[in-house]
Amino acid sequence: MHRSKIIGTGHYVPDRVITNSDLEEMMDTTDEWIVERTGVHERRWFEAGKDTVSNMGTRAAKRALDNAEIQASEVDFIIFATLSPEYYFPGCGVLVQDQLNLDTIGALDIRNQCSGFIYGLSVADQFIKTGMYKTILVIGSEIQSNIMDKSSDGRAMAVIFGDGAGAVVLRATEEEGTGILSTHMHSQGKYAAELTVKEPSTLHKDQILKRLIDGAEADIYPYMNGKFIFKQAVERFSEVIHEALDENEYQPSDLDMLIPHQANLRISQFTQRALGLTDDKVWNNIQKYGNTTGASIPIALDEAHRAGKINDGDLVCLASFGSGLTWASALIRW
Ligand code: UT7
Repeated sequence: MHRSKIIGTGHYVPDRVITNSDLEEMMDTTDEWIVERTGVHERRWFEAGKDTVSNMGTRAAKRALDNAEIQASEVDFIIFATLSPEYYFPGCGVLVQDQLNLDTIGALDIRNQCSGFIYGLSVADQFIKTGMYKTILVIGSEIQSNIMDKSSDGRAMAVIFGDGAGAVVLRATEEEGTGILSTHMHSQGKYAAELTVKEPSTLHKDQILKRLIDGAEADIYPYMNGKFIFKQAVERFSEVIHEALDENEYQPSDLDMLIPHQANLRISQFTQRALGLTDDKVWNNIQKYGNTTGASIPIALDEAHRAGKINDGDLVCLASFGSGLTWASALIRW
């Protein structure tokens, strides 16, 4: 059976840097609170007229293709993970197909929020294992700065989330013991309402139109039950990482690099402590980019890879937790 291997990584973040002191001007918050509770110092916000979710994804994908030293024309399939697509429909994958001038290959969008990238990687891995495709682009991209409530009412969320994109090229290999070893995916829809954007939706369309006509506000901003999500995240991250290690008969001490979804620096630190990992084995960049949801893992993976912290033969674990609830992991022999 074929195996799938990441042969290239890339990322793109908008040029516009928003610091915590910039946020102090917009809402009732402080640099001290943000750093202490989340670890974030700055984040990127998109530039209107320049950045879109799909073109940011395309820029990240081009960098991943360059890094893999292959042509875009070699891509057989596109998987695009986002919670912030530019259109209600169609998805962003088809826009990337066009922006990369590709043949009429298939393009699939994934709606699994912070776990979207690992879900996408898992789908790509199955397509490659069955021999259906040889080379797949998996992309995560988000513009969240323009869906947040940037008044003091929305401060608990607005200070954490940011914009960015990351991508990998996955390719079939016959090499034994290398590439994606296993992926693990979970969901728990009973907690869907704990981290959600409710509107616009098919469910509430009539009410939204009526509220707009009446001049009232729609329920368009994200809601997060922060403390509940935090507790769940701490538990699920460790659980799903252990699941991946157990399946492959490894111990936490065998890991060379853990790339956790950048939810909150304190969550990553809890997970690191629970696994007994040293600082050099966990990649965190939430300090610079905030939580970029579906893009956070491929951005971090690309940074760690380009920094020479992930090398051939290394055991790498990706792990995520977020809205859905969903959580997931992937264990990779690089
Ligand atoms: O990626 C998807 C998964 N997401 C996560 O995993 C995020 C999980 N949750 C969290 O990271 C944290 O819950 C938050 C960072 C969102 C919030 O931190 P917290 O320590 O849970 O704070 P809190 O919401 O309980 O609020 C504590 C206090 C409140 O004031 P009072 O009621 O104690 O007077 C808030 O009003 O902090 C206040 N607060 C703020 N103060 C200054 C909330 N947001 C802010 C803010 N600046 N931005």
